[in-house]
Amino acid sequence: MKQSDDLLPLGGFQDAPLAQELSENTRRLQNVRNALIERPSSTRIFTVANQKGGVGKTTSAVNLAVALAEKGMNVLVIDLDPQGNASTALGIEHHIGVESIYNALVHNIPLTDLIQKSPESENLVVVPSTLMLASAEMELYPLQDKEYRLKNAINLYLQTAESTPDYIFIDCPPSLGQLTVNAFTAATEVLIPIQCEYYALEGLTQLKVTIDTIRNRSNPELALSTILLTMYDSRTKLNMAVVEDVRSHFPTQTLQTVIPRQIGVAEAPSYSKSVINYDRSSNGAISYMEAAIEIARKGINHG
Ligand SMILES: Nc1ncnc2c1ncn2[C@@H]1O[C@H](COP(=O)(O)OP(=O)(O)O)[C@@H](O)[C@H]1O
Ligand SMILES: [Mg+2]
Repeated sequence: MKQSDDLLPLGGFQDAPLAQELSENTRRLQNVRNALIERPSSTRIFTVANQKGGVGKTTSAVNLAVALAEKGMNVLVIDLDPQGNASTALGIEHHIGVESIYNALVHNIPLTDLIQKSPESENLVVVPSTLMLASAEMELYPLQDKEYRLKNAINLYLQTAESTPDYIFIDCPPSLGQLTVNAFTAATEVLIPIQCEYYALEGLTQLKVTIDTIRNRSNPELALSTILLTMYDSRTKLNMAVVEDVRSHFPTQTLQTVIPRQIGVAEAPSYSKSVINYDRSSNGAISYMEAAIEIARKGINHG
């Protein structure tokens, strides 16, 4: 339900939970609209990773990117998943004939030749992925600098792009293969979305080992800076327990903002939209805007 006017005939029931939620959303929306954020002093490069599928990686990469772009930041999204879900959600062509991040990784094509403008925001550009990317793992394997292909491509882009991005989000596939290694090597920060469910913490421990390995091998500066809890359902006790558990293990990295499980968030991609442009005043959209502002204000916390 979008229009608070619908509730007026209820009169005396103004304190009903739904009415309360609507007025709360209006207040939060006002806050995120008024919030001012500063540009980071250098480009923050986030790899959005979790070896599990379906935890909200793509949804988070896409919506945080749109939220920051709407706040005036220059944002680049690199779709590094052969499925191309981030490209879809950002309204970007990515059928098999389209030049994609595959061409950068395997054939050294500069990102400036591959970027497409997203209809989501004038400050947002995207390097799409196509199914071609599925063969990149194998094609990269014999190359000596195989871990550094994405890093080199991004460095060149930072030197040559018309407008330097403030934020880059790399959307990873659900595995710890060569593509994800490239993303970890290229990034300054790791952002891990965690679905509020029982085995959440177990996956995190594995991921932390991988991050430590990458730090030792190819990217000593890499910081696990941000953990975002997603698909939260306040009616489930287990969800609340998971939130507490993750917060107690990762107190500085875990964002205060938690993304609720909400149907609009899942519907938006089928309209080739972020939830922010699909249903701006929904709890999901506002939560992603709040998370983006929190990330911008928090800066990097090395973990
Ligand atoms: N907050 C949310 N509420 C409801 N559905 C969500 C939410 N976040 C993600 N989803 C849905 O869950 C599924 C998995 O999310 P996705 O971002 O694609 O995960 P991943 O990239 O980690 O595989 C998708 O269908 C997505 O639309
Ligand atoms: Mg994904």
